Amino acid sequence: MTATKVRAIRFERFQPDSPTELAELRRQRVLCGWGTEEGTIEKWCEQVQRGVKNLYWIWTEPAPVFPEQEHLNLEREKVGPPPPDPAFTPVGHVSLDWEDYGGEDELADKSKGILTLASFFILVSQQGGGLGSRVMKEMEAMAAGPELDASFVTLNTLDGEVSRQPEFWAKMGVAPGRNNEEWYTRLGYEAFRRGIPRYPSKAVDGTEFLAEAVLMRKRIK
Ligand SMILES: CC(C)(COP(=O)(O)OP(=O)(O)OC[C@H]1O[C@@H](n2cnc3c(N)ncnc32)[C@H](O)[C@@H]1OP(=O)(O)O)[C@@H](O)C(=O)NCCC(=O)NCCS
Repeated sequence: MTATKVRAIRFERFQPDSPTELAELRRQRVLCGWGTEEGTIEKWCEQVQRGVKNLYWIWTEPAPVFPEQEHLNLEREKVGPPPPDPAFTPVGHVSLDWEDYGGEDELADKSKGILTLASFFILVSQQGGGLGSRVMKEMEAMAAGPELDASFVTLNTLDGEVSRQPEFWAKMGVAPGRNNEEWYTRLGYEAFRRGIPRYPSKAVDGTEFLAEAVLMRKRIK
């Protein structure tokens, strides 16, 4: 499916007290396949309420034509649940945080103007058409703007050295995914620490392990 040509992107703050928005966030995390462990969304809501997490829905104009069923990001042959409310259909979500949910102080520090980009997902049907890169540019502009006034944007993603190994994906029982570290490198981010056990994952044989992260940063002003 080809993503609809996007003319404009709009960001709307996630409202943690809206049952529809909570249900859609849960659905989008299931579709994403990462950050699905119990308690994640509750922690995000608590961070939003404390004002350390700026979580936004991503909307595009014109409104996209969605497929009948949205495919899962990690297991692309499978489809996921429908939107809980057909009138509420953002194409993804993204966040700019003053506190890393994983407790890495190097990722976020308001006193040093270090903001971390997290919780980033675009529906599979809308990926691959340049939307992600445009969202990154708009997030950087927002981070540098008067409200947040940050000097650096950091992020964490699956360590590219792990992502490059076919054995990693075979262990997960899914087809090899894209190398996000390489994608962020093309957008100007530099790795500053890698090999950090971080993402709760389950191997096909049922073994639980932490997949390794790389931490990256970019000076934005
Ligand atoms: C990472 C993500 C936000 C990027 O969004 P996107 O809209 O796909 O981004 P873009 O289209 O701007 O860039 C995707 C790149 O992959 C390439 N690509 C090729 N085929 C693709 C496909 N079928 N799907 C996605 N990307 C594809 C694009 O050509 C592009 O490469 P380029 O930057 O060299 O041009 C999105 O893929 C996503 O939500 N992935 C799953 C969750 C995730 O990994 N989040 C980030 C965690 S840190």
